[in-house]
Amino acid sequence: MTDVEKRTDRSPVPADWTYAPAPESTEIVSLRERYGLFVGGSWMAPRAGEFFETISPRDESPLAQVGQADEEDVAAAVEAAREASQTWSKLAPSERAKYLFRIARILAERSREFAVLESLNGGKPIKESRDVDLPLAAAHFFYYAGWADKLEYAFPNRRPKPLGVAGQIIPWNFPLLMLAWKIAPALAAGNTVVLKPAETTPLTALLFCDVVRQAELPPGVVNIVTGDGRTGAALVDGDVDKIAFTGSTEVGKAIQRRLAGSDKKLTLELGGKAANIVFDDAALDQAVEGIVNGIYFNQGHVCCAGSRLFVQESIYEPVVEKLKRRMATLRVGDPLDKNTDVGAINSRMQLDKIEELVAAGRDEGAEIYQPPCRLPEKGYWFAPTVFTNVAQSYRIAQEEIFGPVLSVLTFRTPDEAVEKANNTPYGLSAGIWTEKGSRILWMAERLRAGVVWANTFNRFDPTSPFGGYKESGFGREGGLHGLEPYLAFDD
Ligand code: NAI
Ligand code: MG
Repeated sequence: MTDVEKRTDRSPVPADWTYAPAPESTEIVSLRERYGLFVGGSWMAPRAGEFFETISPRDESPLAQVGQADEEDVAAAVEAAREASQTWSKLAPSERAKYLFRIARILAERSREFAVLESLNGGKPIKESRDVDLPLAAAHFFYYAGWADKLEYAFPNRRPKPLGVAGQIIPWNFPLLMLAWKIAPALAAGNTVVLKPAETTPLTALLFCDVVRQAELPPGVVNIVTGDGRTGAALVDGDVDKIAFTGSTEVGKAIQRRLAGSDKKLTLELGGKAANIVFDDAALDQAVEGIVNGIYFNQGHVCCAGSRLFVQESIYEPVVEKLKRRMATLRVGDPLDKNTDVGAINSRMQLDKIEELVAAGRDEGAEIYQPPCRLPEKGYWFAPTVFTNVAQSYRIAQEEIFGPVLSVLTFRTPDEAVEKANNTPYGLSAGIWTEKGSRILWMAERLRAGVVWANTFNRFDPTSPFGGYKESGFGREGGLHGLEPYLAFDD
């Protein structure tokens, strides 16, 4: 037995992890029965009169009716943005900053309301929407507000100019945060926007319209159109100067094909299958926390989720054992309970996809472990899952599952770790766990991933650029790099 194993034997996990319920009240949120589209500063009913229902994935209860925007509606929103762009783009940059600071402050003030709504509509634990999504969303507005009047210093001798109108299409895993990633840099750079939230999570974007009004942003600077993929496609085809998309690689590719040969600028933030790599000299308990955070955070609905765990062969057994013990302490359940670690799966569709891939993993011969946990009867749920005995060719090691499912593989040498980690069509993120600084740098240089975390995982900051290689997309969001795609330059 190794030392590590002996130590684990002396630190038993308490048997009972029952917590009293600690539900967050939903009273702070007031929903309308029906939402139209936010165009030119006011609410507009979709012309075809089509609406769809948005529900809570925690119990499938209906929350509100939301408009399905068609091509004409999208064109009206783009026109409103175009008109607003005449004045917004010429406004003193310090004035633009003022509005962005206001939005940031209002988001911070109303953060509890937004956090509750985010968890209600999307299924993520309130602990995460409260402590991660909302503070980061406000931070993005604060950060880009600071750049609005310093663009010449950000890009010296390049004469930055706004592009005009940006069309922005976002997914359902971080609804408000992705809105902030998109809108803050676009506005700071002097553009106006038409944004389409995902069909399963439109409510925080619709509540954001209230913030836009409260901040007295000129009408038409921010327009929100709701609807499904057809609405997104109409926006791609609309009279916009740029498309910024975050979502599946499949749709990203379709958009790229659609825009080939046009003058429209494009950035794509797509899927991932990140390698989280643990060397035998790593602090194992910290690494296990990082593994858990890497894959079970937000139910694994994270493009940069550490969904492939690579463990150095000599420590494989203690790592897997520690991981399983830790998984048994994860509390799965009501997203609005403050103790919940793993909330509801975002939609029936996503649950079906997770179930299908997990079945494929079993069929191909991987060994599955799920800690005993009682799942609520109503709503969409999936227990935290780990697969061992995974071969690199298995679908669960190749495809993005976008759920709380981890595949464990092994390696012997750093070279082998690099080779296996890079053996994927994706390249969004990676994690390295080791005590050795030189090894971190050696690995980071060789990993084909846009973001490489060392001895941590899933850390975000508005000052840091984020984006992918290969089929994970192109273009960067966050930091100075995130401003560039929203600007035209003389050079
Ligand atoms: P999706 O890519 O279809 O949806 C993302 C956004 O694109 C939504 O707002 C959607 O309405 C819009 N959209 C859909 N079709 C479009 C089109 N033809 N033109 C323009 N916009 C369009 O993703 P979906 O179907 O929700 O999820 C499928 C899989 O994609 C997930 O299981 C996951 O693996 C992956 N995904 C990855 C994300 C990431 O952040 N990397 C985010 C969402 C999904
Ligand atoms: Mg889709």
